[in-house]
Order: sequence, then structure tokens, then C-alpha cells
Amino acid sequence: MFLNISGYTEAELLGKPHSIIRHPDMPKAVFKLLWEYIQQGNEIFAYVKNLCKDGAYYWVLAHVTATFNDNNEIIGYHSNRRSPNKDSLEKIATIYANLLEIENSAQSSTEGLKKSYSTLMQVTSTKGEDYNEFILKI
Ligand SMILES: Cc1cc2nc3c(=O)[nH]c(=O)nc-3n(C[C@H](O)[C@H](O)[C@H](O)COP(=O)(O)O)c2cc1C
Repeated sequence: MFLNISGYTEAELLGKPHSIIRHPDMPKAVFKLLWEYIQQGNEIFAYVKNLCKDGAYYWVLAHVTATFNDNNEIIGYHSNRRSPNKDSLEKIATIYANLLEIENSAQSSTEGLKKSYSTLMQVTSTKGEDYNEFILKI
């Protein structure tokens, strides 16, 4: 399924980092949050716009989790993808465009990421929900 959608062959993808399909419309803040959650062993739901080999894109609602060994140590990560609905995507695309604008207009990438991350936190907590609750209801 992934090969069909992304347009890559298995040989082109094996051993490569996931960022091979990173789309330039994706704000850095979303990936920062994603890694913070999973490195602490928490699950996260995130809308991700991915880049196909031919330049096309596709959206997924990713559910990313850590994988643990018998000693409760993290030994890897796993992502299940769901097909997002159109209404949710319109709202998410607007939020992401705003975050990207913040990141791109800042004086430095560090400052941009800090402001964008803080905006992401504000936007997703306006109704007193945590990030995952917000995402699953949007
Ligand atoms: C299990 C898992 C699945 C991921 N899936 C994607 C994905 O579909 N698209 C993507 O751009 N990044 C994905 N990432 C995040 C990438 O590892 C990477 O952080 C992101 O593409 C941003 O690239 P950068 O960290 O080099 O800036 C995933 C990470 C994990 C752990």
C-alpha cells in the first residue's frame, strides 16, 4: 500500500529515514511534538501531509506509538495510518499553514520553531483538551 501510494520501490525505501516523504508544507513543530510524545513512551495522533516521489501528496492521520521490550525499554516506533476526513483536513491545513508562516517568517529557525510550537500548543488546548483529544475531535 505504502509503495503504491508513495510511488517508491521497496529498494528505494528500505533503510531510509521516514523524512524521505517529508512534505515542505509540514510545520517543524508538529514533528517536534511527535518525537517528544513517542520518546516518552506516549502515543500521538497527528495529521501528516506526505510527499510522493512524483511530487504529488497525500494526507494521513497517523497514530504513532513506541514499541517496548520485556524490560519496558523503547526498542522502536510504529505508525498506523488512517484516512482523514475532508472537513478535518481543511481545519488542519489552515492551522499548519499558520504554523509554517510563523516558522518561515522568524529571524532564525530556532526562534521560528519555538513560536510555532507554542502556537500549536495554544491552538490545541483552547477547549481545555490535551493535544490528542483536540486532534481526534477536529
Ligand atoms: C513511526 C514513525 C512514522 C513517521 N511517519 C512520518 C511520515 O509519514 N512522514 C513524515 O514526514 N515524517 C514521519 N515521521 C517523522 C520523521 O521521522 C521526521 O521527524 C520528519 O519527517 C521530519 O523530518 P526531520 O526530522 O528530518 O526534519 C515518522 C516518525 C516515526 C517514528
